[in-house]
Amino acid sequence: MKPTRPFHQTPVITIDGPTASGKGTVAALVAAHLGFHLLDSGALYRLAALASVRYDVAPDAADELAKLVGDLHITFREGLAQLDGVDVSTEIRAEAVGNRASAIAVHAPVRAALVARQRAFRKEPGLVADGRDMGTVIFPDAALKVFLTASVEARAARRYKQLIQKGFSANMDDLLRDLRERDERDSMRAAAPLKPAADAKLLDTSALTIDQAVEQVVQWYRALQPRA
Ligand code: DC
Repeated sequence: MKPTRPFHQTPVITIDGPTASGKGTVAALVAAHLGFHLLDSGALYRLAALASVRYDVAPDAADELAKLVGDLHITFREGLAQLDGVDVSTEIRAEAVGNRASAIAVHAPVRAALVARQRAFRKEPGLVADGRDMGTVIFPDAALKVFLTASVEARAARRYKQLIQKGFSANMDDLLRDLRERDERDSMRAAAPLKPAADAKLLDTSALTIDQAVEQVVQWYRALQPRA
């Protein structure tokens, strides 16, 4: 009989990077390619942000927010995110929700309240986790850590396209300003700042297609496997 691996050895690939670096799309495609589970940790922060608006908790009330996050009733099913049993997948993609997510994510108690929920996604046969601190804090023992980067202009152009496709209105100058502000806040915060893990592989996607980025990550992962 094939021995089952201990839980902590379930392979994880972490894909971290700034807003609109393409990590969400790349992570989803890598997961599909390998048949792995997917954790979109940004969606958790966005759900928490949406809940804070719904339940009227101020973005600077760290402890109250952490309590709210601990009590959140959220589910992910077939790519849909639900809050209190209602599908909010589209709503959480709005820029305003992303900005609020970034604002509440600065609080250490809020981050701590989300750790166990994130680690619970680690299941056989493996997990691809995308976010800001997947490789540094949540899965420090990941098999492969990737840090995606792209110029702020390339990222703004992608975000613009994404928002228009989803039926939101968008303005390029506002997007560039928001991205710069969000990068600054995500990178400068004391709690789990956005930065590559020491053992992360850097991948600049400015001039790559999504398929090329996916191929590179899968190739890196395959290179780690012992040859049969
Ligand atoms: O990846 P995203 O744009 O959906 O994330 C929204 C915000 O949530 C992001 O600006 C910062 C925060 N976030 C975080 O602090 N840590 C994560 N692992 C994921 C997201």
